[in-house]
Amino acid sequence: MSPIVCARHLTKDYGPRRAVKQISFTVARGARFGLLGPNGAGKSTTLRMIACRIPPTSGELSVNGLDARRDAKRIRAQLGFVPQENNLDPDLSVIQNLLAYARYFHLHPHTARERAAKLLHFLALEDYRNARVETLSGGLKRRLVIARALINRPHLLILDEPTAGLDPHVRQQIWNMLDRLCRLEQLTLLISTHYMDEAERLCDQLLIMDQGRIVASGNPRQLVAQRFPPYALEVRHADAIPSPNARVIRRADTHIYFASTPEELAPIIRSYPPHYTLLRPANLEDLFLELIGPHFDEECAP
Ligand SMILES: Nc1ncnc2c1ncn2[C@@H]1O[C@H](COP(=O)(O)OP(=O)(O)OP(=O)(O)O)[C@@H](O)[C@H]1O
Ligand SMILES: [Mg+2]
Repeated sequence: MSPIVCARHLTKDYGPRRAVKQISFTVARGARFGLLGPNGAGKSTTLRMIACRIPPTSGELSVNGLDARRDAKRIRAQLGFVPQENNLDPDLSVIQNLLAYARYFHLHPHTARERAAKLLHFLALEDYRNARVETLSGGLKRRLVIARALINRPHLLILDEPTAGLDPHVRQQIWNMLDRLCRLEQLTLLISTHYMDEAERLCDQLLIMDQGRIVASGNPRQLVAQRFPPYALEVRHADAIPSPNARVIRRADTHIYFASTPEELAPIIRSYPPHYTLLRPANLEDLFLELIGPHFDEECAP
């Protein structure tokens, strides 16, 4: 099956600033595809080009087989977009926001009301149907923006930092809703995030970006496994000790030992008071900090 998004040498300039630099990637249909990167990496710019909110400066970009420059209007009709900032109409109620957006897609009023009712139910917003948007909490507003993005039954749902600034319960709710959506509708998810747990939880494919370029891509677990042994031991507030079997890096006041088995780390664990050490799997944060933050990570000899 052809990919739903295909980018080749995709580039975006804002005046003299090059925000996205000749990136090439594809997103398979049905994927849960994540863009991970620090502030200013170019995540939003990339998503906004795919959502046809801004045109590429150069390179090729197709979405669902359509050209992002020539067919922007048709592409917009086929996808849902949750921008980084909630851009709801604060003077309208929850239901009015949904119905106003449905008019943008020329949905028949009856269809729009039916669809809006289903989405209010699905996103657990029924109790807030007639509430004015300005009275809603951050989590409710985010759920409403997601509901709004689904009003036209998109094939592709693009979410720019869907849970930034939300509390842990609301983040879990939104993740569960996205899981259910992927199961019920044949949806491709394209998500940007700063959160490693979100990327690990939601995405089966990742593009890690920094300063407008792709620095790694692939399945999150495989990406970690390619660069790190499976076990990590964090040791806080202490000098590193020699360990022939473990690779060690320093991150601020913490040393992290990586090894293939917990047994290889046991002598190190025994060398420190228990509350100094934490044994855990190597994770995406280890990879991210190694790829993006060499000025914070130091390889160091014990
Ligand atoms: N409208 C704009 N005009 C000028 N420069 C912009 C504009 N939007 C973004 N930029 C610049 O482009 C670069 C990429 O920004 P972008 O918003 O795509 O990054 P991001 O990865 O989404 O960052 P964040 O994690 O902070 O949301 C940054 O240097 C940013 O300052
Ligand atoms: Mg952004």
